[in-house]
Amino acid sequence: MSAKIISGTEIASQIREELKKEVQELSSKHGIVPGLVTILVGKNPASISYVTGKQKTAHELGFYSIQDDQPEDLSESDLLTLVEKYNKDPKIHGILVQLPLPKHINEKKIINAIDPDKDVDCFHPVNVGRLMIGGSEAIFLPCTPAGIQELIVRSGFETSGAEVVVVGRSNIVGKPIAMIMLQKGKGANSTVTVVHTGTKNLDAHCKRADILIVAAGVPDLVKPDWIKPGACVIDVGVNRVGEKISEKTGKPVPILKGDVDFERAKEIAGAITPVPGGVGPMTITMLMKNTVTSAKLHVGLKTE
Ligand code: GUN
Repeated sequence: MSAKIISGTEIASQIREELKKEVQELSSKHGIVPGLVTILVGKNPASISYVTGKQKTAHELGFYSIQDDQPEDLSESDLLTLVEKYNKDPKIHGILVQLPLPKHINEKKIINAIDPDKDVDCFHPVNVGRLMIGGSEAIFLPCTPAGIQELIVRSGFETSGAEVVVVGRSNIVGKPIAMIMLQKGKGANSTVTVVHTGTKNLDAHCKRADILIVAAGVPDLVKPDWIKPGACVIDVGVNRVGEKISEKTGKPVPILKGDVDFERAKEIAGAITPVPGGVGPMTITMLMKNTVTSAKLHVGLKTE
């Protein structure tokens, strides 16, 4: 039987509708408008496209949003001064400095300068620590892992007591999603295994998974016989494997492939995310959710 396809595009759109209502209520009942600034240094085309997507969504949800474009040769100290300006700005609840930064700027220094209570990327060491402690300490969740959790929960999979296997140990996806699924509480409480390039018998670990989360960056790494029949498979990989001409625009566009052999895996899995259209659309949406959470916290309102 063919798996249910988990559409990140549809789930992201549902969450955006919920956020839109929340933003309207925050404004009408409490006079608060969530504020997000995205800072872009230089003209990296991929970064421009990401930041444009973030600003467009912020706009659609009714945020106060600022796109702060800075030249490639901005000095590190000028960027620190800019971050400090937004740390102090009461209209701004979320600060995002788009990465990567030009080589002459130390990214760690910049991330560490963002007020942790405005760090909607959840990259600041204080927020990484809060995530580790869990419960109400974890005010923000990192965007891609938070999106993965939403995809699992909203697809109706039971996480409590489930065997979750995470392939990959990056700071952005592997480690934080393992930490999120390990927490005691709704949408988590799982038994988590993290496997990586040093793991023996990768396939044997994957075969035990009720929920398999793959963030390895290797196209088609996971074969269909690595998947437990009926499992929920979340493919975080976005690998460029070539180019094709777009039928819409007539211009070359990348051919994307996930870390899972989708066509064959969907005959074994119970549910699976496609690439593109799976995890990807969730990341910006969860950034918006963090910004709404931050706005609420800044005025002393309860969050969930
Ligand atoms: N560059 C690529 N993805 C991201 C992201 O999620 N946040 C930031 N700040 N930079 C990025």
